[in-house]
Amino acid sequence: MSNKKILLTGGLGYIGSHTAVSLLNSGYDVAIIDDLSNSHIEVKDAIQKITGKKIDVIIGDCGKAEDINRAFEECGPIYAVVHFAGFKAVGESVHKPLKYYKNNLESAIETINACFKYGCKNFIFSSSATVYGNAQRMPIVESDLLSYTQPYGETKLVIENMLCGICKAEKDFNVIMLRYFNPVGAHESGLIGEDPNGIPNNLMPYITKVAVGKLEKLTIFGSDYPTPDGTCVRDFIHITDLAEGHVKAVDKIGHLENNIEAVNLGRGKGVSVKELVDTFNEISNGACKAVYGPRREGDVPVSYADVKKANEVLGWKARLGVKDMCISAYKWELSHMEKK
Ligand code: NAD
Ligand code: UD1
Repeated sequence: MSNKKILLTGGLGYIGSHTAVSLLNSGYDVAIIDDLSNSHIEVKDAIQKITGKKIDVIIGDCGKAEDINRAFEECGPIYAVVHFAGFKAVGESVHKPLKYYKNNLESAIETINACFKYGCKNFIFSSSATVYGNAQRMPIVESDLLSYTQPYGETKLVIENMLCGICKAEKDFNVIMLRYFNPVGAHESGLIGEDPNGIPNNLMPYITKVAVGKLEKLTIFGSDYPTPDGTCVRDFIHITDLAEGHVKAVDKIGHLENNIEAVNLGRGKGVSVKELVDTFNEISNGACKAVYGPRREGDVPVSYADVKKANEVLGWKARLGVKDMCISAYKWELSHMEKK
């Protein structure tokens, strides 16, 4: 058992809260800084209830030096930072790019600055498959060409490039950039999960909201893609598996061969939108009414990861399948609905 302390920026959010649970269950201590811009303080209690362990939570903006410094001072020494904080709505980033440049870049820069100020040598960054832009070759390998198609993706790529530059100059600073594919599902307890504001843009939260009657029907965007059933194909990954990937990255980060690595976190399996909806309907007695509609602008037909590197570098592999993703997401939506 270790009692190294890990600071999670944005740790009350969807991926951060599940990662906090996995880290605590693996013997790490956890501190969180979150400005509650897309989360609720109640998540702290849920994490503590699931794990039976206490965590430190600082309410603050990690893009402000005084707030992130306070987190290091009150919670330190910090062994590693996992930097989740940022805005993530692709569509909004097109309409409000400055909001994304400001928060995503400032939060990364100030958090890295604080790592140097307080002697924290290990930094894990929440990147995204979005850094592959419109990838043409599947599965996507980490060494494939990087690009962006919208400001959100641009911020992820700029931060990745920044981290490469920093690691070239600072050989004892270790970085793992985790490129997530499509995280879905929730913790099996039904106590934490994805809680988007307003009408969801992403597929799984839309499906579960239709299933509980909060939305009328799901529109499947496009049925004429060059895929086996005509709907888009994605690499959906269970949030619990994704969280475990972060634990493996924390385990590994002090022992990297190179001081910076980019690693895909996906299942390495393409699943179509129709397959996901069909599986959800199997486990929910047909609760999600779906119709076909036109394609959504900006969607790529197929996206799935090559996951060899995650296995080789982190010793990690996703375990849970599509059924588990659907069951846990539905359970979360139902328990969440009771609370509201
Ligand atoms: P989320 O919005 O649920 O969590 C982000 C958290 O960061 C929220 O709790 C929010 O309040 C907080 N936050 C935002 N700006 C902050 C700031 N300046 N200071 C302190 N806290 C701040 O999002 P998520 O789904 O958990 O995503 C976490 C990270 O993973 C993000 O960087 C996102 O871009 C990245 N990512 C997410 C997905 C996905 O599908 N969810 C896919 C790829 C990458
Ligand atoms: C999107 C982002 C990606 C980001 C990820 C997680 C784009 C182009 N990509 O991925 O950068 O990392 O979210 O936040 O925005 N779908 C429907 N009906 C719906 C909603 C979605 O059919 O109501 C389909 C989409 O067309 C897509 C698939 O479901 O084919 C998955 O969509 P979504 O969950 O939004 O994720 P991505 O678009 O893959």
